[in-house]
Amino acid sequence: MRIGILTAGGGGPGLNAVIRAAGRKLLREGHQPVGLLRGYRGLAYGDHRELDHDALSGLLPLGGTILSTSSYDPFRHDDGPQLVREAMARGDVDGVIAIGGEHTMEITAQLHAELGVPVVGVPKTIDNDIVGTDRTFGFDTAVHVAAEAIDRLHSTAQSHDRVIVVEVMGRNAGWIAVTAAIAGGADGVLVPEVDVPVEKIAATIRQRHDRGKDFSIIVVSEGARLAFEDGRSHKVVANAETDEYGYERLGGIGNALAAELEQITGYETRTVVLGHIQRGGTPTATDRVLATRYGVAAAETVLAGTFGTMVALRGAEIEPIPLTDVVGVKGIDLRLLELAEVFF
Ligand code: F6P
Repeated sequence: MRIGILTAGGGGPGLNAVIRAAGRKLLREGHQPVGLLRGYRGLAYGDHRELDHDALSGLLPLGGTILSTSSYDPFRHDDGPQLVREAMARGDVDGVIAIGGEHTMEITAQLHAELGVPVVGVPKTIDNDIVGTDRTFGFDTAVHVAAEAIDRLHSTAQSHDRVIVVEVMGRNAGWIAVTAAIAGGADGVLVPEVDVPVEKIAATIRQRHDRGKDFSIIVVSEGARLAFEDGRSHKVVANAETDEYGYERLGGIGNALAAELEQITGYETRTVVLGHIQRGGTPTATDRVLATRYGVAAAETVLAGTFGTMVALRGAEIEPIPLTDVVGVKGIDLRLLELAEVFF
């Protein structure tokens, strides 16, 4: 069989490790992996290249994706579904392994349900917000980057008696924020799942000062709302534009929160926005292992003919689950927030 492998949506650490793992397993079983370039655009437009052992070599520690990525959705283009039908009829590929986030899984489910494309999804996102799986690959690396940044910011915040607000990614889920806050020993955290009034954070910072700690690190998730004790609250967006999937472009809550905190406390407050640094570079060992497990499991799922599924981590096992179950956003486990708060 010729099995297409594609990466779609936002890039992230571990994509190449999945490509390598799925490709190597397919080659080992006597099948031909084919790299579809720029996500589903590569399937629709026949833009692909065969993945031999050489092409799959040296990928494990490599950031980004050798296949490039895009948010192309065949169902958002009049000719898209027909182009995909023609590609499948030509025999470009006999099945597809689609590595992507929530929206890629939606497209993948639709291709299976409406066009009968044999597909298996692999859950990728630094946000860790895909329903049905305990963990997405890329998340551990993003948290590692954020925690290291918090460590570095601690020493400069302490030297200058400053409050530093660290804005992290995560879209509408606070997984990166709360996990990095725990790992980095932050003094406050704001996540999209729970509104915390700025006055409450300011009070925490003041209490630290009263205890002789003249600096603080506050972690804020880009999707958190700026909330006040009088009940007002709003989300902060970078601009009015939405991305190709129609998602808001988040960003700016860090600066907005810092301005409020400085005004209430009178302490000098700075902001650091980590941005795409969290998505680049080499994956951690944990992500390399998870990505390898996902890649091999996706190839095995294809070879077993279990299509219309996404490989998911459930406890210690990786197993295929129906793509139709992968709907919505997985919010944080609130017990993590309680754990972080013990140290504020
Ligand atoms: O979903 C991953 C993610 O990095 C989010 O955390 C972030 O909001 C978004 O993608 C940024 O997307 P873009 O790179 O298109 O600005």
